[in-house]
Amino acid sequence: MRTPIIAGNWKMNKTPAEAKVLVNELKPLVKDANATVVICVPYVDLCTALKETEGTNIHVGAQNVHFMESGAYTGEISAAMLKEMGVEYVIIGHSERRQYFGETDATVNLRTLAAVKAGLTPIICVGERKEEREAGYTNALVEYQTLIALNGLTDEEIKNVVIAYEPVWAIGTGLTATDEQANETIGVIREAIQRKYGKEVADTVRIQYGGSMNPKNVKGLMAQPEIDGGLIGGASLKAPDFSLVVNYDK
Ligand code: PGA
Repeated sequence: MRTPIIAGNWKMNKTPAEAKVLVNELKPLVKDANATVVICVPYVDLCTALKETEGTNIHVGAQNVHFMESGAYTGEISAAMLKEMGVEYVIIGHSERRQYFGETDATVNLRTLAAVKAGLTPIICVGERKEEREAGYTNALVEYQTLIALNGLTDEEIKNVVIAYEPVWAIGTGLTATDEQANETIGVIREAIQRKYGKEVADTVRIQYGGSMNPKNVKGLMAQPEIDGGLIGGASLKAPDFSLVVNYDK
């Protein structure tokens, strides 16, 4: 009942000229996808990605957004700026932002509120580090990260949010959570949402898995009942690989 959503996270890769090439390679390969297809590109590639995907089934997202509406925040980009361009999605709280750029659960919440208020769909990233999993804190941590991120949204707004469960130890490492591990932790996230916001909201919100998802492991992961899609880093930079992930059900 939930439409799967496969999103590429290009991270800091591809100049505008390179983005144009990749998008045009991708277009014919993903045009019959049953999943919602999103590419989250660097800010400077947004214009190109929006222009080149016009009239296609590919949606465009950014990789971050500032939480203030406007003002003296040199180097930052507001939700209204993205919205006016035609951007539909935005990744919030990616572990690389948490690790390298001081992102906290509090700022993830502020960015989420700003994005939703402007009409963008946030893809909120949560997930544990290796030592946190080993210490047995995974469930408590993802629950806490999720509920703080959603704090202040209405039930209707939460239904439209996308959550990406990305175990930090699986990102860019080639290590993937097992199908069962990913399914179980996503189930924990869904239960936490259900306890606070009720079953209807929890059953509607889409929760992706992310962390070395690729053409080889996508089928097994997507066969799990709790997993509604993927946030794809490395494998989203090559059109054939990304299209195989997008077309996992074919
Ligand atoms: P990866 O990245 O697929 O390269 O592991 C996923 C992500 O960071 O969103």
